[in-house]
Amino acid sequence: MKKEKIDIVIREAIPDDAKEVLRFLEGVATETGFLSYGAEGLAISEEDEKYFIENILNSENNLLLVAILGEQIIGTASVKAEAKPKMKHIGEIGISISKDFWGFGLGTMLMEELIIWAEESKVIRRLELTVQDRNQRAIHLYEKMGFEQEGLLKRGVYDDGEYLDVQLMSKMIDA
Ligand SMILES: CC(C)(COP(=O)(O)OP(=O)(O)OC[C@H]1O[C@@H](n2cnc3c(N)ncnc32)[C@H](O)[C@@H]1OP(=O)(O)O)[C@@H](O)C(=O)NCCC(=O)NCCS
Repeated sequence: MKKEKIDIVIREAIPDDAKEVLRFLEGVATETGFLSYGAEGLAISEEDEKYFIENILNSENNLLLVAILGEQIIGTASVKAEAKPKMKHIGEIGISISKDFWGFGLGTMLMEELIIWAEESKVIRRLELTVQDRNQRAIHLYEKMGFEQEGLLKRGVYDDGEYLDVQLMSKMIDA
């Protein structure tokens, strides 16, 4: 089989990416039942998304990475954290990749970037995430990156007529 090499750029999102970020996130939710929102989308305006991205860029403990092929976003990875002094060390991870690009190592690359950023932040000391128990690809990726299961949230999500269990996973950041 002939292998094709493609050039993907991974960088922090900027406010001008807002429209493309929303297009991507709304599209990806219809491709998979693994996200916490579905075809209803995020109900966020482009103006609001611009404002969110601006705030993320100015924050010490929030991050939004985009993976870009040509002009198109094909993946995003984020860390969300609160500003409260008692909670600001906890970063919640979110990651999504267009289905056409699953299985090529992009998820691994995005997770590596998130972890390096978290170590360099000197603020984040705990990364956490929730993942559907049936999402074995994502769980394999998280375990490979050093995440451990902390608990199982029974009926943690409802999708397509079913209540599904959700794993809570975490990784401590000690760099
Ligand atoms: C989960 C996701 C981010 C992974 O990204 P990806 O680019 O496919 O990941 P990678 O190619 O870097 O790695 C996938 C790994 O899973 C493994 N894998 C694939 N299918 C698997 C399965 N059914 N069971 C276990 N492992 C599996 C691959 O072999 C690979 O492991 P390796 O690196 O040890 O060889 C991506 O599939 C995605 O966006 N899914 C939809 C949204 C989602 O589920 N987000 C996470 C919500 S918590």
